[in-house]
Amino acid sequence: MSVRILALVGSVRAGSHNRQLAEAAAKLAPEGAEVEVFDGLAEIPFYNEDVDVEGTVPAAAAKLREAAAVADAFLLFTPEYNGTIPAVLKNAIDWLSRPYGAGSFVGKPVAVVGTAFGQYGGVWAHDDTRKAVGIAGGKVIEDIKLSIPGSLTRFAQTHPIDDAEVAGQLTEVVTRLHGHAGETVAV
Ligand SMILES: Cc1cc2nc3c(=O)[nH]c(=O)nc-3n(C[C@H](O)[C@H](O)[C@H](O)COP(=O)(O)O)c2cc1C
Repeated sequence: MSVRILALVGSVRAGSHNRQLAEAAAKLAPEGAEVEVFDGLAEIPFYNEDVDVEGTVPAAAAKLREAAAVADAFLLFTPEYNGTIPAVLKNAIDWLSRPYGAGSFVGKPVAVVGTAFGQYGGVWAHDDTRKAVGIAGGKVIEDIKLSIPGSLTRFAQTHPIDDAEVAGQLTEVVTRLHGHAGETVAV
């Protein structure tokens, strides 16, 4: 049985380098792992407890929850916005954190990586994302780290899959996450 890894991307712009990283990771996934890059975070309304009740959950949020429910692990790709997590990704984490204690992250391995323009590659956003997703119940794999600086220049002409160093790093990230997910799936 293939391990299903759901990739969420914290940038919804068409030319997102983080989305390109996620697409590259999907192509580089080892045998036995399948990475699905989720489409549709931009359509999800801001989390609101008033509408998060049976019968009124927005379709876009329900679609995210359905994809997350069948995932064995999560791979989050994000840039940094003003020193922290872009709102679109935080919103997705908030939707997946409910019902409290029974959201789709609970007990599943989660790794956080990405690229940003700054010299630290978005480490603040990556650390903050690990914190939020851990509070939401995810089993954060703290030692899977990849924060690639200089996004706008490094990937201006080169897709991440054609950057040998990045492709190697992504392969390692997906392979290691797959290993952790395999442990969870086996129990
Ligand atoms: C609103 C906004 C805030 C940003 N803040 C930061 C920041 O705090 N640190 C950083 O390294 N880059 C920052 N950037 C630059 C992004 O890291 C860069 O544009 C990145 O490539 C965006 O990711 P994407 O290519 O996946 O869309 C910011 C960009 C925007 C649009």
